[in-house]
Amino acid sequence: MNKIAARDMVVPNIHLLTVEAPDMPGKLRAGHFIMVKADEFGERIPLTVADWDEQSGTVTCALMQAGRSTRKLAEMNAGDCVSTFVGPLGKPLQIEKFGTVVCAGGCYGIGSIYPVARAMKAAGNRVITLIEARGRYLVYWEDKLRETSDVLMVSTSDGSTPFRGRNSDRLRVLIEDGEEIHRVIAMGCTFMMADISETTRPAEIPTRVSLNTVMVDGTGMCGACRVEVDGNTRFACVDGPDFDGHAVNWDLLRIRRRAYYHQETISEER
Ligand SMILES: Cc1cc2nc3c(=O)[nH]c(=O)nc-3n(C[C@H](O)[C@H](O)[C@H](O)COP(=O)(O)OP(=O)(O)OC[C@H]3O[C@@H](n4cnc5c(N)ncnc54)[C@H](O)[C@@H]3O)c2cc1C
Ligand code: FES
Repeated sequence: MNKIAARDMVVPNIHLLTVEAPDMPGKLRAGHFIMVKADEFGERIPLTVADWDEQSGTVTCALMQAGRSTRKLAEMNAGDCVSTFVGPLGKPLQIEKFGTVVCAGGCYGIGSIYPVARAMKAAGNRVITLIEARGRYLVYWEDKLRETSDVLMVSTSDGSTPFRGRNSDRLRVLIEDGEEIHRVIAMGCTFMMADISETTRPAEIPTRVSLNTVMVDGTGMCGACRVEVDGNTRFACVDGPDFDGHAVNWDLLRIRRRAYYHQETISEER
């Protein structure tokens, strides 16, 4: 059992979940994820680490309420305990001095891109962070991301920020303006990550994405997280979740992510 240190709704539908896990922060790297189970009857779900604090021994994730399991967590409060909180899992991102690195995040990915921007900045890169949301009211952690980025660009689809559009639109403008970009990292919804990968493909800019497949054990045993990358079968939990966005079979990923859609809906109704 791990105690929840804080759970706050930071913007509508996104919660910051901070959990006491004293052994974990010292081992965490950007790109790692944890598996969490709200209670003994719940399912284990993966969440990317968004921040951690070695002194207090806590780990923070940005949680987007999607269905039953994320709702259970979103309804928990400081002092409650989750029955499983396992990590670090997955391979951490490759962090080194590439030059100019674009970090793109949307929905929960605005939180999970933060440690990536922080690590890339610490490695000596020029960091351009792009975040997207439907409207300004859904943007969070702007101050934190500004601290770890040389440039922060916020895009909204309703035009409530100066740039109307998506991260991929903003990135396209950067590329067309001749910005020399050496690496792009995208975290968040599948649509955004696929879109970013298509945007960087013509210019052959190395693009890494953090795939959010269905996962069960998160340790390479069940095969639920199977994806196709460069024509080869990979398990997102142990071979990823970070992969080359230009080599991912996005159509297969979209189909597999909807495999339990019917059961998920029934579960939520019940
Ligand atoms: C490596 C990894 C890291 C992740 N990191 C985060 C994170 O930091 N924060 C966060 O909020 N979520 C994250 N996710 C997604 C999260 O695990 C799912 O949203 C969650 O499992 C949904 O469970 P549920 O029971 O609440 O919803 P379900 O009832 O399972 O699904 C409800 C709806 O959400 C959709 N959905 C299901 N699985 C996913 C998914 N993987 N991603 C997006 N939508 C999904 C379904 O199609 C359905 O429409 C991550 C997933 C992976 C694989
Ligand atoms: S989640 Fe079971 S093998 Fe990846």
